[in-house]
Amino acid sequence: MNPLYDQALNLSENLPGTAANISRVAKATSQGAAQWAFTQWSLRKRARAKFALADQMLFDRDGLEMSTHEGLAEYHAALFPTGARVLDLTAGIGADLIALGRHGDAAGCEIDSERAGMAIHNLKVHGVEAEVRVGDYRAAMDLEPESTCFYVDPSRRESGRRTIDPAEFSPNPLELKSRFDTCSIGALKLSPMLPDGFLESLGGRLEFLSYGGECREALVVLGTESEPGRFAVLVERKVKIEAEDHYISTAETPLAYLYEADPAAVRAHCLATLAHEFRLEHLADSNGYLVGGHSVDSPWMVRYRVVNSGRGDLKQIRRSLEQLGASTPILKQKGAGLELQKLHKSLKSTGDQEMHVAFYRAGAGLRHAILMRET
Ligand SMILES: C[S@@+](CC[C@H](N)C(=O)[O-])C[C@H]1O[C@@H](n2cnc3c(N)ncnc32)[C@H](O)[C@@H]1O
Repeated sequence: MNPLYDQALNLSENLPGTAANISRVAKATSQGAAQWAFTQWSLRKRARAKFALADQMLFDRDGLEMSTHEGLAEYHAALFPTGARVLDLTAGIGADLIALGRHGDAAGCEIDSERAGMAIHNLKVHGVEAEVRVGDYRAAMDLEPESTCFYVDPSRRESGRRTIDPAEFSPNPLELKSRFDTCSIGALKLSPMLPDGFLESLGGRLEFLSYGGECREALVVLGTESEPGRFAVLVERKVKIEAEDHYISTAETPLAYLYEADPAAVRAHCLATLAHEFRLEHLADSNGYLVGGHSVDSPWMVRYRVVNSGRGDLKQIRRSLEQLGASTPILKQKGAGLELQKLHKSLKSTGDQEMHVAFYRAGAGLRHAILMRET
């Protein structure tokens, strides 16, 4: 790193980014170095949610936003066969490449030379060795032997704007398919918001990854060693379930317990797998709530005891909450199409008992359940 920039980083550590502080650091270094250093500290602060060593890493705003959380990067790296060489086609600031390099022989490619420099710095901070080539992924791929595995996390931004059209991703996943199909493992990180039709058109195994209680990504795993299937993965717990076809009956109203499935399980269409395993029923048209008369413990579901239920009538809900001594309830919905923020205001309550209200639909009709969280 340029020594002036390094000095600016040291001088600005723990200082609020006020005009006076920036100008003090600028006097000792340069205006550019001071601006850059204060930006780095503000990005590092945000990056602490993703990286344990954030305070030593370098970022640009988009590169940080697009980067993979280190817990998920570890999961990606472990998909590849031990000892295989892996080329990361879109290294970004290097989050995935750090994990790949820790697992084995890895190299990365990045078209943005400044970001490639950040990846090199970030690898060093983590004590990981991996080559970073600056340039287009096609040239980097061409240099690789037949046996190389591939990883790609395409850019979904075009001139700062986020796109949801896979044809505009860089690289375009469809263009990679034939090369990814013929290597032993070729993994694509994509948005879980992409439609099933597109994700399935790529073939291979489809995994929806849950991290921090959110469905963070859809991973398409191609290659000659990839087992097919559709899975949900709880990355922190290292557990996986497969989407299976089972006939599951539907209850119109909640039973003694309501279970809220993890968003990745819902996205991977694994509700029938859970309902079958735990002898539960779907709750009306909720797509995500399961119900049963018995208590079940599973990392895939949050369990609630059902206090009462009804037809989504606000007056009735308010009365119930008052009688129960509830504080302002935590609202949730599956397929109810409500504006929960507005509802939250109108259900303000002064008690101290924590309660949840779940909304869902049965046909056209709105339904609710008042719940106490147990797990
Ligand atoms: C989503 S980011 C990758 C983030 C990375 N996995 C990480 O965790 O830090 C995508 C990156 O691909 C790069 N990129 C886009 N088109 C490329 C191309 N044709 N060749 C190489 N890199 C490219 C972008 O500059 C961007 O940094």
